[in-house]
Amino acid sequence: MNFNILTIFPDLFDTLDHGVIGKAKNNGSFSINLHDIRKHAVNKHGQIDGKPYGGGEGMLMMPQPLKKSLEDIPKNKIGKVIYLSPQGKPLNNIKAKELSTEKSITFICGRYEGIDQRFIDKYVDEEISIGDFIISGGELAALCSIDAIVRHIPGVLGNEDSSENDTFSNGLLKGPQYSRPEIFEEMKVPDVLLSGNHEKIKEWKELKSIEATINRRPELLNNVKLTKKQRKLLEDLTSQRIL
Ligand SMILES: C[S@@+](CC[C@H](N)C(=O)[O-])C[C@H]1O[C@@H](n2cnc3c(N)ncnc32)[C@H](O)[C@@H]1O
Repeated sequence: MNFNILTIFPDLFDTLDHGVIGKAKNNGSFSINLHDIRKHAVNKHGQIDGKPYGGGEGMLMMPQPLKKSLEDIPKNKIGKVIYLSPQGKPLNNIKAKELSTEKSITFICGRYEGIDQRFIDKYVDEEISIGDFIISGGELAALCSIDAIVRHIPGVLGNEDSSENDTFSNGLLKGPQYSRPEIFEEMKVPDVLLSGNHEKIKEWKELKSIEATINRRPELLNNVKLTKKQRKLLEDLTSQRIL
């Protein structure tokens, strides 16, 4: 998979050289092509922003440097053009998985007060938001999106870390997890996890997953088709009022 990034801060993307994502980049599961928008500034002062018509605070990224940066990418490598924007559709696991099947994605990273609408209208296929809050530029949003997308490319995560068991993969939150030591500051790992009984452990994990989802993100249950067993666990939990 190939990502093109239009940004004024290409250095920020060094972040992708670390951990499991860095490994995937090194072994060619995906590539990153950075395009510095400032190369196409409208004057020798490196200007890429202008005052918004009709007034308003701050500056807006002008359309010409963005268009020229896009033209630097071979046409057959542009793929889907996505503007990271707080007005976009929220990114979620389903969307990340869907995007992981694209051959190429070009991310446009806004700065200042955003970008000129005419560029969006003509060149952007989709707008994506990473949440209902404002950050100072699209770079961190692109990084989050790339990380979330790349995790779904087959082979990026080892079998042990498979994204199939991540939170949201089945629409639910993952329950609590424990590692060594068995007792930490008088808190003991739940007995069932030490029992060696795989069936019971699996059931406990399912129960805790449903419990976490009801307690923390009950609205997620509206979009999940629970299995018969999960429905039973949910009913038991609600009737026992142990939540
Ligand atoms: C300071 S923000 C501009 C916010 C703009 N004034 C508004 O109210 O919508 C600058 C850039 O950061 C990026 N950005 C900010 N919040 C974002 C979010 N929640 N998701 C994705 N990108 C975001 C966008 O690329 C945006 O153009």
